[in-house]
Amino acid sequence: MATHHKLIIGNAVDMREIPDGSVHLMVTSPPYFNAPFDYKHLYQSYEQYLQVIEKVAQEVYRVLQNGRIAVLNIDDMLVNGEKFPIVADATHRFLQAGFRYRDRIVWKKPDGYLRISRRSGVLLQNPYPMYYYPDNTLESILIFQKGKFNYRSIPDEMRHSSQIDIERFQKEKYTMDCLSLSQIEILQKLKKEAKSNQFYVIINETNLNRLEF
Ligand SMILES: C[S@@+](CC[C@H](N)C(=O)[O-])C[C@H]1O[C@@H](n2cnc3c(N)ncnc32)[C@H](O)[C@@H]1O
Repeated sequence: MATHHKLIIGNAVDMREIPDGSVHLMVTSPPYFNAPFDYKHLYQSYEQYLQVIEKVAQEVYRVLQNGRIAVLNIDDMLVNGEKFPIVADATHRFLQAGFRYRDRIVWKKPDGYLRISRRSGVLLQNPYPMYYYPDNTLESILIFQKGKFNYRSIPDEMRHSSQIDIERFQKEKYTMDCLSLSQIEILQKLKKEAKSNQFYVIINETNLNRLEF
């Protein structure tokens, strides 16, 4: 099937180039609120951050076709010792925009994958009850739906051509709402494929360094 690609660089708060009800899937990994490692001081307040999430939720609701899915890869963020409940607040904003809440998939990173969160060290230094702080190794993948999908709206031919590989689905454990996908494993796999198929993957340099590639 011939496909047509268009890249629009802009602010997701205002996606005026995209007509109402024209999008089949939205997947985003927005900045975490003032994440100390990437987005320090980007937002003046948590309220301002949530206003952006709210406006994006409304825009995404507008551009999605009825029944289609919006996916948000996000998690609570620790800034200056305070934990911000981004998952709960973003879920609330998406619900307010009109979405149905379908699921929360938890992405478990490898045990050694810690960026700033080495909080468990506090307990090692002070082994007493009030010093308990766990390290964070999770991210959330929030799944929302605009209304309900009309399964009969898809022609048979298209339905067959988009059939999912059940064997892979089960083997790679996509059946569960907790994935232990390792970014590192995925990147290594992509790198191998890039060599064998002459298929190049462009990945942000800083992330590569951080992952010790
Ligand atoms: C966590 S990163 C995601 C990176 C991307 N998924 C990738 O794999 O390279 C968040 C991205 O959102 C972009 N961003 C921040 N605010 C935005 C906005 N209002 N509209 C569109 N993109 C935005 C940032 O520039 C950054 O590239």
